[in-house]
Amino acid sequence: MDQGDRDWWRHGIFYQVYPRSFQDTNGDGVGDIRGIIERLPYLTRLGVDAVWLSPIFPSPMADFGYDISDYTGIDPLFGTMEDFDELVAAAHEAGLRLILDLVPNHTSDQHPWFIEAKSSRDNPRRNWYIWRDPAADGGPPNNWRSEFGGSAWTFDEASGQYYYHAFLAQQPDLNWRNREVREAIYDVMRFWLGKGVDGFRVDVIWHLIKDAEFRDNPPNPHYREGRPPHETILTQYSTDQPEVHAVISEMRRVTEEFDNRVLIGEIYLPLNRLVAYYGNDLRGAQMPFNFALLSTLWSAHSVEAIIADYERALPPGAWPNWVLGNHDRPRVASRVGPAQAGVAAMLLLTLRGTPTLYYGDEIGLRQLTIAPDQVRDPFEKNVPDIGVGRDGCRTPMQWSADRNAGFSTATPWLPLAHDFVSENVASLEADQASILNFYKAMIALRRKLPQLVSGSYEPVAAQGDILLYRRRGTDGLVVIALNFGAEPAATTSSAIGFNCEILLSTFMDRQGEKLEGMLELRSNEGVILGPYQDV
Ligand code: NOJ
Repeated sequence: MDQGDRDWWRHGIFYQVYPRSFQDTNGDGVGDIRGIIERLPYLTRLGVDAVWLSPIFPSPMADFGYDISDYTGIDPLFGTMEDFDELVAAAHEAGLRLILDLVPNHTSDQHPWFIEAKSSRDNPRRNWYIWRDPAADGGPPNNWRSEFGGSAWTFDEASGQYYYHAFLAQQPDLNWRNREVREAIYDVMRFWLGKGVDGFRVDVIWHLIKDAEFRDNPPNPHYREGRPPHETILTQYSTDQPEVHAVISEMRRVTEEFDNRVLIGEIYLPLNRLVAYYGNDLRGAQMPFNFALLSTLWSAHSVEAIIADYERALPPGAWPNWVLGNHDRPRVASRVGPAQAGVAAMLLLTLRGTPTLYYGDEIGLRQLTIAPDQVRDPFEKNVPDIGVGRDGCRTPMQWSADRNAGFSTATPWLPLAHDFVSENVASLEADQASILNFYKAMIALRRKLPQLVSGSYEPVAAQGDILLYRRRGTDGLVVIALNFGAEPAATTSSAIGFNCEILLSTFMDRQGEKLEGMLELRSNEGVILGPYQDV
């Protein structure tokens, strides 16, 4: 790893680890930091460059670590600060960057700051959180809804006021209009940056500032039956306020007190609003996460339109990024169907911009159906039976055919898929044609072809089920052709010329095949073509 490489986050591939589910080493059924250290060689074999860890800080775990009670500690469930320091050193030694999850929008209700704030109306920390008097009828101050069900306001009997929480009542929102709060979190950032972490993924960054007047949110005219109840109203006044951008540029400045760090923002907004999070003069987040592929209809035309919209919306100089999965959304292999998993991977790893992989997607993990008595996710518990549960995409990594898939000697905190006996890292590494070996080959090819990393993106009109585009750099041109359909498809596009050959197929069996004008793709096949004689 070249510590002086300012562009590492542009060139690199990010990999999200959900620590609870990666590797358990102390036999409690929950993954830990030592487990991540043990598995670093796997990540370097895979070929990724940066690892983002979901929260590992002390937490009552009401939302599995996204409810933090101490921002500068390590939860004993995951290990010790010594383990963490060792992880930073080992990751860097292995050439990997390490990114932490920063959760500044809310704390746990067990955080000393909230305990103080709640203790009385005139406590100096009272204004670190968002307190409002009841409405005239004694009810909540406005109609804002919690994402995890019910009102976003919880009444505190003792002080006679409501506090605001965008998520669980155990996750009170901090008041980011308060300078002291900002400085406290900036110090948290400095603490971890000083330990050598390479940046942050900032949780719900678009939530940080709320409307100063706490106006009611308008109803959502597009609400669809069967969707979670919080979607019945829009979040016009509770999220994405103009003042948030000044806060983000302050965070950015904090990261710049250290060399070559990255600020990534978690933002679920339409593309035209998402790109504002690059900030004025690109002084905001370097990578506002682009989640467009998580919700799109999986067809060549729909994906083509999303890429075009995004490329068009990006401010000059802004660096793109793409995400196919995370710990909040159904597994990609289930969303697009297992047969399309290779196409999805080839898309992610050949689009212009930094890709973020979600652990287990590279072995084709699917969304697991969780029996009602095994549900752990508070979202599913509060809003049951409509499919919002996130446990199914957080199941343990499947390392081997051993007991508990080599994840733990104890019963894992979430069930394992039954197919782990065949679908695991050890057996897939041994199978030349596996999805895992395709990921490795794809990542290796990306390293060989700089145009896949920094070349321009040139669309070629999608033809039926085939999505076509070129990546052009000073090192030449490659063409990517992805068949989104379950039927064979062919193209005679002028984009596919003579004298080009297949560099990689998602089935890994056509390397070197010469093409003469016509490209035939099997069902669910993607290919990369080059070198191409430019005409
Ligand atoms: C976004 C996180 O990704 C999600 O897992 C969490 O529940 C919410 N933020 C609340 O922190």
